[in-house]
This record gives sequence, C-alpha cells and structure tokens, in this order.
Amino acid sequence: MPIEVRDLVHVYHPGTPLQTKALDGVSFEAEKGKWVAIVGHTGSGKSTLAQHLNGLLIATEGTVKVDGLSVAAGDRTLRQVRQKVGLVFQYPEQQLFEETVFKEVSFGPRNWGFTPSEIEESVEKSLSIVGIGRELYDANPFRLSGGQKRRVAIASVLASGPDYLVLDEPTAGLDAQGRENFLALLTELRSIGKGVIHITHDMDLALGFADIVLVLDSGRSVLTGPPSLILGELLEREISGLVIPDLVRFAGRLRDIGLEVPLSWDPFIIADAVGRSFKR
Ligand SMILES: Nc1ncnc2c1ncn2[C@@H]1O[C@H](COP(=O)(O)OP(=O)(O)O)[C@@H](O)[C@H]1O
Ligand SMILES: [Mg+2]
Repeated sequence: MPIEVRDLVHVYHPGTPLQTKALDGVSFEAEKGKWVAIVGHTGSGKSTLAQHLNGLLIATEGTVKVDGLSVAAGDRTLRQVRQKVGLVFQYPEQQLFEETVFKEVSFGPRNWGFTPSEIEESVEKSLSIVGIGRELYDANPFRLSGGQKRRVAIASVLASGPDYLVLDEPTAGLDAQGRENFLALLTELRSIGKGVIHITHDMDLALGFADIVLVLDSGRSVLTGPPSLILGELLEREISGLVIPDLVRFAGRLRDIGLEVPLSWDPFIIADAVGRSFKR
C-alpha cells in the first residue's frame, strides 16, 4: 500500500497574526519502488508537505495515510508511521551528534529496539548502500568531507529500515560529483524497493529521473504526472519558479527549425533523433 495524501491543508499559527496557509489542498500518492519528485519555488510548501509524511506536522484538514495507517491516529500509529517513513532534512549533516560513524548510524535501530546483531547488520547494510566503507566506521563524523557527512546522515535514517525515504533538497550545496553520487544513491534506493520522495529545485533531476513529478505552487498541487506530461504542460504554460531545462529548450528550438526531435531532457535521445533527421 502506498502513501496517500488527500486534500491536505496546513495552517501555521492559526488564529494569530502570523497565520499562514502553507498547504491548500494537496493530493498525491507515493509507492514503494517509485521515485516521486516534488518541485516548486521557495515557499510553495515542499518542506511543510515533507513533514506531514512522517507525522512531524499533523493536517489542519485532509488526510495523510501511510500503508493504510492514518498519521493523525495517535501515538502508537505515529510510531509505526515513523518507522515506515524516514525523513532526511535539508543539510542533514547538521544533525550528526555521535562520536563515531558506527554509533551515529546505530542510534536509530537501537532506539527502535533492534537486537545487537540486527543493529550491526542494519548499520553495515545502510553504510554499504550509501558507499561508506568499514575503514570509516570508527571515524569521527565531524571530520568527514561534506558529501560523506551527508551520506552518513542518510545511512542513519536508512538503518531503521524505512519503506519510504523523504529527502528534502538532498543535493543542495553539493558539487557536481556529489550530485552525481547522490543520483546513483537515489536510483539504488528505488531499485531495492524503497519509495523515494525527493524534494528538489533541480528540474533536470526531477524530469530526468523521477517516475512521477508533483508540482506545488502556493501550497497547491497544480500538476502531477510522469515527466513527459509535466514537460508538455510546462511548455504550454508558465508555472512560477519552474525553469524548463536548457536541453528541452534546445530540443524545442531544433523542432522549430524543422528537425523531428522529441521534446526530451535526455541528450542521447536528442542526438540520435538529430542523426536520424540528417540521414533522411
Ligand atoms: N514554522 C513555520 N511557521 C510559520 N510559517 C512557516 C513555517 N514554516 C514555513 N512557513 C511558511 O509556510 C510556507 C511554505 O514554506 P515551506 O514549506 O518551507 O516551503 P518550501 O519548502 O517550498 O520553501 C511559506 O510561506 C513559509 O514562510
Ligand atoms: Mg523547503
């Protein structure tokens, strides 16, 4: 069963002068083994939505269900939800606090009551998924590189064995190599059956890799669907804060001058189509 969000409304500080409606009727679903990208300009409600998916925030109106469990159902259910949905905040490395990498990553499973051998197994597995080797198990997390820190922080969420991972702008502040590594990591998570919910500003990533893209604008879900559908819509009408990737614009330009090129964000597809056009 998936994560199901229906008509979600969130109001911060209701009834005060600071009252803000951050979400205003958002609906979408996320399944295991699929990658959902959530895009939208700053302030569109992405981080607020993320925090609803594991019950850090509770709906003002509407419902959030995780594998049939209602996030608002009470403490016992909430605990189950939190074990199913791991939330990785923006700059998760700021939350590291243990003296060694191993301790850091074992904190979650210990907290959930895993046995010592289960803890060891899940720590090893999670660190191996994020590409952190044994030689770093005893290292001080604060001494690692920026990219390594972030991977340790993600391993510490993975170690509790969530079915879904919600990542809030995980590539922010990473260099090109860090972004590439991250992309590989998210692809790997999806391939081992995790539901990936990826909040990002990066339209190239969203359109190029996600199965489903959810576009938020002023707290509303204005568009949901596979990248091809989103792309078609984006070319038809402007959506505030969303920039069409250069490559897609480039493909559009080639079409304007008469080449039969699909509106793609994949450079190889465009190149092949151009080649075929010239052979004709
Ligand atoms: N803790 C908070 N208290 C009051 N308003 C908030 C809080 N967090 C976010 N907001 C407001 O809610 C709206 C959505 O913010 P946010 O979910 O952080 O968007 P995004 O992650 O897309 O940038 C914004 O108007 C923001 O100012
Ligand atoms: Mg945010």
